[in-house]
Amino acid sequence: MADTFRSHQTMSRTSENGNIVLVGFMGAGKSTVGAELARLGGLRLIDLDHLIVSRQGCSIREIFKQDGEEAFRDYEALALERLAGLSRAVIATGGGIVGRPGNWLAMRRLGPVVYLRADWDTLCRRIGDDPDRPLADRRSGVEKLRRLWEKRVPLYEQADLVVDSTQGTPAQVAALILERLKQEGRYAG
Ligand code: S3P
Repeated sequence: MADTFRSHQTMSRTSENGNIVLVGFMGAGKSTVGAELARLGGLRLIDLDHLIVSRQGCSIREIFKQDGEEAFRDYEALALERLAGLSRAVIATGGGIVGRPGNWLAMRRLGPVVYLRADWDTLCRRIGDDPDRPLADRRSGVEKLRRLWEKRVPLYEQADLVVDSTQGTPAQVAALILERLKQEGRYAG
């Protein structure tokens, strides 16, 4: 599995707060791998979408329908900003977090950003027809979703560490992330 990793050239800073930020498209495994990372690393798991839903008091689908996507992006950016000062946590973000440059600043301040990469067919199979993923609504067409993924891939690739999430179980992927971050001096354990 050695070739499933590619570290970004900027992997040089040491993480002082023990956080790990996960990014990737819908279906990349951010929540499942995040749960394993939290378990293995003795960290808290923070799911940004869950924070938005509890703060707004309604589902993501309802937020998109009532307030629109831009408002959702504002709530998302705000939820991320509110995590400033956090320590020893895995932060599972929503697939669209990478779209705003300000979110990158906030994520990098929290800790190393890890991209969970998966091929299109795997993502498509995992996403299915999830009613709480408004952007993955099959009625809008799978081609539209694929274009969104293609547009985002170069953004995800800006992460500090890129990990293939299709190789091995979520626990194995999580263990390899921790190992790699420790090697790079980005996670003290
Ligand atoms: C989104 C992904 C979702 C959620 C929202 C928008 C996106 O999170 O934030 O539906 O733009 O890709 P997951 O990636 O956890 O499904």
